[in-house]
Amino acid sequence: MNPTVNDSSRGIRIKGVSKVYSGTARPAVDAVSLDIAHGEFMTFLGPSGSGKTTMLSMLAGFVSVSAGSIEIDGRDVSRLKPHKRDLGVVFQQYALFPHLSVARNVAFPLQQRRMRKADIAAKVAETLELVHLGPYADRLPGHLSGGQQQRVALARAVVYQPRALLMDEPLGALDKRLRDRLQREIARMHRELGMTFIFVTHDQHEALTLSDRIAVFNEGRIEQVGAPAELYERPETLFVAQFLGESNGFRGTVDKAAGVLRCGAHALRAPRLDPRLDRAEGVAVVRPERLSLHGDAADVASGRNRLGATVTEVVYVGDRHQVGLRFADGTTGTATHPVGSPLPAMPGECVTVSWDPEHQSIVTGGAGAPVPPVAAEIPADA
Ligand SMILES: Nc1ncnc2c1ncn2[C@@H]1O[C@H](COP(=O)(O)OP(=O)(O)OP(=O)(O)O)[C@@H](O)[C@H]1O
Ligand SMILES: [Mg+2]
Repeated sequence: MNPTVNDSSRGIRIKGVSKVYSGTARPAVDAVSLDIAHGEFMTFLGPSGSGKTTMLSMLAGFVSVSAGSIEIDGRDVSRLKPHKRDLGVVFQQYALFPHLSVARNVAFPLQQRRMRKADIAAKVAETLELVHLGPYADRLPGHLSGGQQQRVALARAVVYQPRALLMDEPLGALDKRLRDRLQREIARMHRELGMTFIFVTHDQHEALTLSDRIAVFNEGRIEQVGAPAELYERPETLFVAQFLGESNGFRGTVDKAAGVLRCGAHALRAPRLDPRLDRAEGVAVVRPERLSLHGDAADVASGRNRLGATVTEVVYVGDRHQVGLRFADGTTGTATHPVGSPLPAMPGECVTVSWDPEHQSIVTGGAGAPVPPVAAEIPADA
């Protein structure tokens, strides 16, 4: 995390912000509140249509807010014009001036701010170094690759040292290799500049690798905000669990007194249950890499949750096997198994699946979340 993150007097504060586009009934952004610390790398992650671009556009000032307010470094900017907010913006399309050289594209915001010529030249050279485009200063954008053009756009957005850099799927138009490379460049720029970055993507890997924190958007609302590992290991809703990485889900009813999730005749141990969940419908979510497979149920250590399953397929994916599972009630799932150790069962054979209850989360269904086809009945040790 960036050392400047804890400067509490500065940062961006989104307070109960909503957007209802004219002619639409449903808010595109629905009462979103979020504090973004100065220097933080914050990512808005969510499926198509969840409101990410609308939220970013309201921050930038391109779209007006219907309700709520936005503060930057303690000042309400909700009604300010975009160029008065002092924010850098990069979108998926590069939007460079085609008739201006790389250097003149980057110089443009400084000329608008009436910086002295000699200072502009120095600042442009320094910023082109930052994005490794020094040798390309005199080229026209049309003579650059997509990745290089996007780096020019990044340089142009940060050259005047805005309070924050807003990026909407800036890598979306690039192929996978370039994307990976620019991801690393953006991470490095963030470290070197110490500036607040707000990054929009629907790519979970991008979000997990780049961010200090991720806000997961769903239907105009934020379902959960947290550090990547926190969201991955401790999802609070089914939507977050399923949107971020692969997960197995076992549906049941929470029995707080017994400390278990009852799935038909089966009880899954569930430590530290939220009292509000008592008797609620819940889903035990477990990541594939947390499941262990045993040929013999007697091998399962006490204290672990266990279920019987049939192996449906085994897929070799290089560094591990991906094992498809069907549980007794018809629920399907996935476990990973190290390539170095023998598989306890082959497709069509029975296996016992176990996991440490500490590695599971009990979640309730999020709005619009696809619910795993889980079981009315999971027989005990089926
Ligand atoms: N100008 C507009 N007028 C009316 N509705 C709009 C407008 N722009 C967006 N919407 C609607 O608002 C909702 C949120 O759209 P938004 O573009 O913010 O989603 P997004 O999360 O950025 O999606 P994507 O990942 O596809 O870019 C969608 O239902 C969309 O159809
Ligand atoms: Mg968008």
